[in-house]
Amino acid sequence: MRPIRAVVLGAGYRGRAYAAFALEHPGELEIVGVADPEHAETIPAPRYWRDWRECLAARPEADMVFVTLPDALHYEAAMAALDAGYHLLLEKPIARTEAHCREIIASAVAKGLLVATGHVLRYTSYFAHIKAIIDSGELGEVVSIAHQESVGFFKIAHSHCRGNWSNSERSSPIILQKCSHDFDLFAWWLGRRCRRVSSFGSLRLFRPENRPAGAADRCADCPRQIERACIWSACKMYLEYGERLGYMFADTSREAMERIVNESPFGRCVYACDNNVPDHQVVNMEFEGGATVSLVMAGYTERNVRTTRISCTGGEIVGDGERLHICRFGSADADLDPSREPFALRETNPSRHGGGDFNLVRSAIRLVRSGDAAAMKTCTEAALESHLMAFAAEESRLNGGRVVELK
Ligand SMILES: NC(=O)c1ccc[n+]([C@@H]2O[C@H](COP(=O)([O-])OP(=O)(O)OC[C@H]3O[C@@H](n4cnc5c(N)ncnc54)[C@H](O)[C@@H]3O)[C@@H](O)[C@H]2O)c1
Repeated sequence: MRPIRAVVLGAGYRGRAYAAFALEHPGELEIVGVADPEHAETIPAPRYWRDWRECLAARPEADMVFVTLPDALHYEAAMAALDAGYHLLLEKPIARTEAHCREIIASAVAKGLLVATGHVLRYTSYFAHIKAIIDSGELGEVVSIAHQESVGFFKIAHSHCRGNWSNSERSSPIILQKCSHDFDLFAWWLGRRCRRVSSFGSLRLFRPENRPAGAADRCADCPRQIERACIWSACKMYLEYGERLGYMFADTSREAMERIVNESPFGRCVYACDNNVPDHQVVNMEFEGGATVSLVMAGYTERNVRTTRISCTGGEIVGDGERLHICRFGSADADLDPSREPFALRETNPSRHGGGDFNLVRSAIRLVRSGDAAAMKTCTEAALESHLMAFAAEESRLNGGRVVELK
């Protein structure tokens, strides 16, 4: 049996993360080409192109296209790849507007092609374990979920103030970028559709009026006493904090990081960027059957982690992002199944999303190999639900929290 052949469009953090599967499992996946203007060669392949259009125009002999391009290029690239007859592994967001998301999914379904969207969390053992407990019925019915996506202070400044996801005109609303994963989990756990949504949120901190008097536009040029006193100094963030940068940049040598600080957009003062996405947002949802979900997207937190409390008619599931505590009300023995508890993530490498990246690739290539049209359609359509919830949340936020009914 030959491996599934794929081309990668966009050899950044996500392209490299998925392509790494082929290196570890060459019998299952072969990368036959890569398109990227700058980083193509960071993924081993027999053919390279500088632009995704050149790649698709060459009609490479492949079964799948991995679309791991910046958000703004997803729609055009995904539609072109589907028109050329390729199955897709498409990073989230599917596209930046509801109409474009619907068009991509409809095109794939009409052509009998797979769109496996990058909702990697449902492919992790931690979140799948929650799903298994809910589905077992051991705790009764889910009544409410309180869930927080803590973005982390490093990431809110790096990605959502200085970086690619800072301006909704260029990328997409932050509630879609950051939380389509979370919406996907809610719909999957509950196995029901969301009926209505309301949301509030705004940009509190990284605004020009909060800039310290005398601060320069770039941290490397800032007066030393101001720069040293600033949590958000790019000199501190990229040269001193020691945060794992490997998944953000292909080259993390000292020289490369100095270039990042001195020359790239990541060296800008956080109060002098063209960012507009909120740094905090809350979303309330009601699902068919009456279950309620509240989601908090919090930018200013120490760690990037998701925490969850699921209240059921007969018990509770509490997750701190790494471990789950599961209790049945009135039971002397709090944990349901000693062989299952305490439950902890087996793979903690954050650049691999707790094993989710590889499990998503494995699941997508198995679906393609199976040729199971019904299963491919189910997988393709599932991703749209989370995006519709995110677009409804953004519509509500922009309209003062007005309740938005999902169509
Ligand atoms: N599933 C997840 O958890 C997750 C996490 C992070 C990012 N993402 C999504 O993945 C996508 C990629 O994000 P990333 O973090 O890898 O970004 P990135 O900037 O690291 O990678 C994007 C790559 O696309 C390349 N590119 C730009 N224009 C191109 C063109 N015309 N042709 C070919 N290549 C081109 C860039 O050079 C870059 O290497 C985004 O849509 C993002 O929202 C998903």
